[in-house]
Amino acid sequence: MMPPPILRTLPDLRALTRGWHRQGETVGVVPTMGALHEGHLSLVEAAKERCDRVIVTIFVNPKQFNSTDDLAVYPRNEADDAAKLARLSIDTLYAPSPDQIYPEGFATTVSVNGLTAVMEGAHRPGHFDGVATVCTKLFTQTAATDAFFGEKDFQQLQVVRRLARDLDLPVAIHGCPTIRDIDGLALSSRNLLLSGRARTIAPCLYEELEGIVAALTAGQPFDELRRAAIARLERAGFTGVDYLDLRAADDLAELDTPARPARLFAAVQLAGVRLIDNIPA
Ligand code: PAF
Repeated sequence: MMPPPILRTLPDLRALTRGWHRQGETVGVVPTMGALHEGHLSLVEAAKERCDRVIVTIFVNPKQFNSTDDLAVYPRNEADDAAKLARLSIDTLYAPSPDQIYPEGFATTVSVNGLTAVMEGAHRPGHFDGVATVCTKLFTQTAATDAFFGEKDFQQLQVVRRLARDLDLPVAIHGCPTIRDIDGLALSSRNLLLSGRARTIAPCLYEELEGIVAALTAGQPFDELRRAAIARLERAGFTGVDYLDLRAADDLAELDTPARPARLFAAVQLAGVRLIDNIPA
């Protein structure tokens, strides 16, 4: 199994993809910030099924971190990532140096209104401007026909869909199911930051989400379910619940019953690590 060729510059990437586009091949991109896990690899599998060529990008995007401490501890291990990708034989790994994404004097921000005002957008000011800007750059740099994102970051997926539609970017956005550990914890690069004890507490979040959805289906009122779940999460050892919201799946409007296609979203703090999750409701 050969590790994928790693490209660091936009001219090298363009030289590679030009021929693919000339031959009318479809090109799938899986944008990541590295520290790859089975969730990322499932996106790569989805891209391989649908596209002639597959590019994985690794770029820890400083513009989407609203805290320098968070950026400093974000896990990075490119050699491990390349070894994991070797098993999947992708066409290339694009790991650009920062100046390839944000050259000297870079002055443009892509900002999506509405969808970004709530949840992650409300708790992490500037986060979605960073995500929208880097995704726009990665779509135009790779000229991908298709891009693959996990439903674990469901709000991000909707923001990226919106920006691709609004800016007429010729890329189809595909959402792929969340991959979970055997105990239900949604896979995330941030799970690597959990201490042993925190890791044993973390799956309670998914249990609570599942319990709420079952109770909603049985007709119980959401505000009572939310209050009780937050109290249980705090007793279990979570140090804070940033939000636990029932929202419409399309426009993320807040709901008190799942009267239209809905999802239940949560963000919690656990021993200094912020975890997010969501499930259909
Ligand atoms: O989900 C992520 O890892 C990042 O937000 C993304 C989409 C790669 C943009 O930096």
